[in-house]
Amino acid sequence: MAQVKEITASSLDTKEFIKEKAAEISQIVGNGVAINALSGGVDSSAVTMLAHKALGERLKTYFIDNGIMREGEPQQIVSIFQKLGVTVQIVDAQDEFFNALKGIEDPEEKREAITQTFYKKVFGKLVKQSNAKYLLQGTILTDIDETVAGIKRQHNVFEQLGIDPQEAFGYKILEPLVQLRKDGVRKVAEATGLPVSIYNRMPFPGPALSARVIGEATRERIALVRKATTILEKELSGVKAFQYMAILHKNRVTGMRDNKREFGQQIEIRCWDSIDARKASPTQLSFAMLDKLAARIVTEVPGVVSVTYNITPKPPSTMEAV
Ligand code: XMP
Repeated sequence: MAQVKEITASSLDTKEFIKEKAAEISQIVGNGVAINALSGGVDSSAVTMLAHKALGERLKTYFIDNGIMREGEPQQIVSIFQKLGVTVQIVDAQDEFFNALKGIEDPEEKREAITQTFYKKVFGKLVKQSNAKYLLQGTILTDIDETVAGIKRQHNVFEQLGIDPQEAFGYKILEPLVQLRKDGVRKVAEATGLPVSIYNRMPFPGPALSARVIGEATRERIALVRKATTILEKELSGVKAFQYMAILHKNRVTGMRDNKREFGQQIEIRCWDSIDARKASPTQLSFAMLDKLAARIVTEVPGVVSVTYNITPKPPSTMEAV
């Protein structure tokens, strides 16, 4: 396995990096076509801008609507990129993903189901249709570190696990950001002209809201955690934290509503202070804020009777519960 040479954010010359990577992409892809999936996260957004600079219209960018994104996300992202002159096509793959997630409870099996659906089923088809030989993606050094260390299999890491994408999926994968960590990617993203809402965007996992549901990620359970996520992201938008999330628990608990017993759902809130996601500690949110979050979630998300706040640092916790 080739050792990746890290470029730290402090030693990064963004202009030079963009020039170099765009030239590399141009040279490898030649006159051909490349495709990429844009999720709207800072990594895939930076890759889209880099590759667009290199290939122009020969880059086909897709937003895969997997059914497990946050409220309104596909349309928001497409419109941001439209303003930057990048056309993004939304691909409705909701049925494929929910079928693949059916009956799966184990976290790593969930990740594997999403990986296979994304790379083999959805992208296999798009590659064939577009005649592309290359897929560009925003893998960063931390994804590789955590996967190789066996902590959490990141959905976008292959080579370091001995998987050849050409053999497994029928196309090559280019990873122009692989020498960077998140802080470096944010600098590159800003330098490519992306707006602050993208280059400072809070991290969000590749397996999206399925990582926020403990147990089976059904349409109904995803819809429930999506509602809680919308409330949480709105209320905490002014808080300086690395990442915050709502998690739907598998087990129900006894609650009461309108003087009747209600055996209902539990939502766990997590909010993290962290520099690079390798270590993290719970943000000291005010009790008034926690109170408000609980009140809104139990009132506005049907069936939820309990809201808790995680007070355990990483380690031994991890940031996501799944
Ligand atoms: P953990 O839960 O490992 O999370 O402490 C560290 C950071 O990684 C994100 N994360 C993921 N991102 N695919 C991703 O793209 C994944 O499978 C995944 N799991 C966790 C998490 O949101 C946090 O920022």
